[in-house]
Amino acid sequence: MSTMWHLLRVILIFSVFLSVWMERVSAISIQLMPPYPAVGQSVTLSVTGITGNIREVKWYKGSNTDASNHILTYIPSANSPQSNGLQYFSRASALPNASLLISDLEFTDGGNYTVSVQTQTAQQTSVNLTVYEPVTDVVLKSNTSEIKENDTVTLTCETKNANRYEWVRVSGSLPSDTIQSKDKSTNTITFPSIKRSAAGDYYCEAKNPASNKKSNIYTLTVNSASSSPEMNDGPLSRGAIVGIVVAIFAVALIVAVIVLFLMLKQRKKHSASTNRKQHVSATVASGNGQTNESAAEHDIQYTSVTFAQRPPRKVQMQPSDENVVYSDLRLS
Ligand SMILES: *[C@@H]1O[C@H](CO)[C@@H](O)[C@H](O)[C@H]1NC(C)=O
Ligand SMILES: *[C@@H]1O[C@H](CO)[C@@H](O)[C@H](O)[C@H]1NC(C)=O
Ligand SMILES: *[C@@H]1O[C@H](CO)[C@@H](O)[C@H](O)[C@H]1NC(C)=O
Ligand SMILES: *[C@@H]1O[C@H](CO)[C@@H](O)[C@H](O)[C@H]1NC(C)=O
Ligand SMILES: *[C@@H]1O[C@H](CO)[C@@H](O)[C@H](O)[C@H]1NC(C)=O
Repeated sequence: MSTMWHLLRVILIFSVFLSVWMERVSAISIQLMPPYPAVGQSVTLSVTGITGNIREVKWYKGSNTDASNHILTYIPSANSPQSNGLQYFSRASALPNASLLISDLEFTDGGNYTVSVQTQTAQQTSVNLTVYEPVTDVVLKSNTSEIKENDTVTLTCETKNANRYEWVRVSGSLPSDTIQSKDKSTNTITFPSIKRSAAGDYYCEAKNPASNKKSNIYTLTVNSASSSPEMNDGPLSRGAIVGIVVAIFAVALIVAVIVLFLMLKQRKKHSASTNRKQHVSATVASGNGQTNESAAEHDIQYTSVTFAQRPPRKVQMQPSDENVVYSDLRLS
């Protein structure tokens, strides 16, 4: 008894599936051949699922059967089966199996097409035709011409009409830390910190559903910082060198000032000879172009300023007192 019920259930389920399948088969639909046609190619809008004899076929450009959308009518039994509608164009023609052939495709041929097929019953269906432009002008570029180790480098696959990009390293796989979009929809890859092992030949392949094209081969060269020609002048930058030179001059200047200060202090202490004092006064007079009449203390202070602005070599070349100066310097 239970076996009987089981059998009935199986039969019921099977018949439901069968009727669904029958409905599928009997409904017409349009298949694009090829599925991703490109500009300049031909495409067949192939009508499948027709049962019974075809009496009349009408094609429309658009998603409804308005007369303003009418491309052509095909009646197999007529003496001249094809007649043209308002949207007729000479690259379109009807085929005996109700399909529509469009040759020498233009980009503007893309859009919805609707067919109505009359057999014992009438059915209609629509399709969206996309016409692809061929992929052209594929150029692989780097955003950096001089690539040094640990630089962030981005390679770009410049092209027209592509929507997917494959990246190929001729000698093997891409470096493991390469950043690229998972769905291949981005036309760049990035090496976040490039290693010398990443050097080699690369190319990209730009694709759309209808066509694909390879780029030029790009040879990636990674210079290490030390072997780079720009770095021949050593680890110090020009700025650092200038800074050091300035610092040396500043120190020399300070030393010169101290030396002079000590020299003059010495002179004051041992009441220097009139001869030398006159010499100092003369230097001051010529130095600032002002007449300087006596006032020993004043003279001495002016002198220190004047000498301080002179290069250190001149200070060292001062007559006599040299030994005294050097011993004082050592003490300070
Ligand atoms: C209709 O005819 C065209 C041209 O012969 C053919 O390519 C296409 O496959 C046919 N379609 C069907 C559904 O038979
Ligand atoms: C057809 O489909 C494409 C995507 O496949 C879409 O971009 C386009 O807008 C569609 N055209 C129409 C007329 O629906
Ligand atoms: C094309 O057909 C699709 C789906 O039927 C519809 O959503 C769209 O609006 C149609 N486009 C035009 C331009 O008729
Ligand atoms: C190249 O691109 C990366 C990021 O994509 C950036 O960090 C780097 O500075 C760029 N290099 C140059 C020279 O523009
Ligand atoms: C690059 O980075 C690595 C590790 O972070 C380091 O050992 C190496 O010295 C760097 N190279 C240069 C040229 O800076």
